[in-house]
Amino acid sequence: MLKNNGKKAAVSAACTLGLCLLLLALVLQHEHPRAQVPEQVSQEDVTGARSEEQARAGSEKKGFSAYFSTLTRARREVAKPAGSSSAPPASGDPPPAEDISVDDVFIAVKTTKKFHQSRLKLLLDTWISRNAQQTYVFTDGEDEELKKKIGGHAVNTNCSAAHSRQALSCKMAVEYDKFIESGKKWFCHVDDDNYVNVRALVKHLSQYQHTQDMYIGKPSLDRPIEATERLGDNKMKPVNFWFATGGAGFCVSRGLALKMSPWASGGHFMNTAEKIRLPDDCTIGYIVESVLGVRLTRSNLFHSHLENLQQVTRSEIPKQITLSYGMFENKSNIISLKGAFSVEDDPSRFKSVHCLLYPDTPWCPPQVAF
Ligand SMILES: *[C@@H]1O[C@H](CO)[C@@H](O)[C@H](O)[C@H]1NC(C)=O
Ligand SMILES: *[C@@H]1O[C@H](CO)[C@@H](O)[C@H](O)[C@H]1NC(C)=O
Repeated sequence: MLKNNGKKAAVSAACTLGLCLLLLALVLQHEHPRAQVPEQVSQEDVTGARSEEQARAGSEKKGFSAYFSTLTRARREVAKPAGSSSAPPASGDPPPAEDISVDDVFIAVKTTKKFHQSRLKLLLDTWISRNAQQTYVFTDGEDEELKKKIGGHAVNTNCSAAHSRQALSCKMAVEYDKFIESGKKWFCHVDDDNYVNVRALVKHLSQYQHTQDMYIGKPSLDRPIEATERLGDNKMKPVNFWFATGGAGFCVSRGLALKMSPWASGGHFMNTAEKIRLPDDCTIGYIVESVLGVRLTRSNLFHSHLENLQQVTRSEIPKQITLSYGMFENKSNIISLKGAFSVEDDPSRFKSVHCLLYPDTPWCPPQVAF
């Protein structure tokens, strides 16, 4: 019992709420955090877990054919350029599978009233200012000033302001419902410490059809998470699945989101989260991978504050989909960018990133040569 509880606590901490050890390792070693997930090992793990799940889900594909189709998919993903220099420039970009525009994307920003000034304002001044039409802010308190700025795009979820598992799942449930209601093709979730490069996001999503089952993001663990599903009658079932860490942002296609409905819509998301007792981002992974048998598509273009952000170089910034910033033991974990603003004036580096991506912004210094 004690052992079980300890494990559960560790697992919970690994989702959303923690991973300090990982960060410590990354910050101290300055090793390649963007290769956090050893492709070789993890793909094998996924394959193993996945064929098991497929069998459980009663998928019509059985045995070798399922194994090979999984393997092929895994290979294709590994082969995909992830903004690395190994891809041939410009002309090597894959043609879009679907011509989408920013209007087809629903971006949900999760925040809490306490951070409206310290975190959200920076986002409103930078990337949200260019993408107000597709961005919705999900918070937990009334804020007249915020309402004046973005009107109905400020959504008071009425969820608790606590950083608890239940409060986080409560907000994700509202995000999901609003997305379904919006009719848009892609659901993307980010946190209030993420910069979203919407041009790069749209470009990336256009590689896929929104009617396909797509779940795109970056795992924060190097192995599938192990959890326990409560089946009722005090019965438990162990489950393994990958999830995209919410702190880096992730996207779900409309095709997949609709399939998630029985476990995610209305009040169901919170019930599902309770069934496995994990935070919101893990619950999404559970529904997608364990329940529906769809695999996470990894992308290294999403970044959370749990990785060493120093590894993102200036020339790669325009290709990245999300960036983040954070503090660890009084040292800031930020991207290394000599930009329009000093670290003192722009500790997150988001203003400098914004001026790099949108140099015509009125408050950006004109034509600075960095
Ligand atoms: C939160 O409560 C207010 C006041 O009762 C209500 O108008 C609003 O629709 C609620 N928000 C959600 C997302 O349910
Ligand atoms: C961080 O800085 C504060 C104030 O400068 C200090 O009190 C605290 O001990 C520091 N923490 C660590 C982990 O260095």
